[in-house]
Amino acid sequence: MRHYTLIAPAKINLYLEIIGDRPDGYHELVMILQSIDLADQIDIQASSTDAIRVRCNHPQVPTDKSNLAYRAAELMATEFPDAYAKYGGVDITITKRIPIAAGLAGGSTNAAAVLVGIDLLWNLGLTQSELEELGAILGSDVPFCVAGGTAIATGRGEQLSPLPSLDTIYIVLAKYRSLEVSTPWAYKTYRQEFGSSYLTDKDSLAARANAVHSGTMVKAILHKDAREIAQKLHNDLEKVVLPAYPQVLQLRETFANQEGVLGTMMSGSGPTVFALCESKQQAEQLQLHVREAIPDQDLELFVTQLITHGIKVR
Ligand code: C5P
Repeated sequence: MRHYTLIAPAKINLYLEIIGDRPDGYHELVMILQSIDLADQIDIQASSTDAIRVRCNHPQVPTDKSNLAYRAAELMATEFPDAYAKYGGVDITITKRIPIAAGLAGGSTNAAAVLVGIDLLWNLGLTQSELEELGAILGSDVPFCVAGGTAIATGRGEQLSPLPSLDTIYIVLAKYRSLEVSTPWAYKTYRQEFGSSYLTDKDSLAARANAVHSGTMVKAILHKDAREIAQKLHNDLEKVVLPAYPQVLQLRETFANQEGVLGTMMSGSGPTVFALCESKQQAEQLQLHVREAIPDQDLELFVTQLITHGIKVR
């Protein structure tokens, strides 16, 4: 029986600016997304029935339709009924390493891996942009997770322009296991507090996106200048998450006060906070220092690095 093992990396946001509202209830964003070397493994194979089955080693990950990986398989079955009839259902096994509900796109990257895996399993020969279009139906971060690397994301987050890849920068991630921040809450609260300054007309929205395209963060990425990238980290959602979640603020401040940190920021809607470092050794030192500063068993820390790819077949 054919079987594929896929590597599904997490992402961080090097930049997240909320620029306006959208008629679909989402927000117009300008983001710079970056894949990191912290990944789940997705094993996918044809099942002997027409059922879609999801298994996961993490007890808090649902295995029903509320799992985006399940919905990705269901979407493929709906979009390609002939292939579904020919090849039958799929068994999906998720081996989780990415912390869940963390602002690291764990669910989105699992869904992206299922799209890529079923494309292979059913010999569909889909292009990257076709896979990204399918991904956009599932969630705003899914298209980026397909190809990964470094990219500017606009619109809802699904319109991508690739940037030259970054890889030699190391990061430390910190997340309290029991702490979750609801993404809809974060965006809704942001709208309540800052909605009056949203840009509304098309030209202004496009001008703002263009300003980021030609701005200092993108220049720093083009020069692969880790120090400058770290200085330009930005996330509008920090304005609502940090005041409401003292533990996230504490992680942010703890990182900011440590030696060897080039810059620190919350990823996505949080609650994960990351710090950029110039070397693996510095990142490992930083991990030790943060562990000493916050000796709480609930705090998870990871040392990893920026990578140049999204979903990969092992
Ligand atoms: O697309 P996704 O399901 O990942 O988005 C999760 C939630 O984040 C949405 O329900 C919405 O509340 C918020 N969101 C938003 N604008 C975006 C992306 C996400 O308001 N561009």
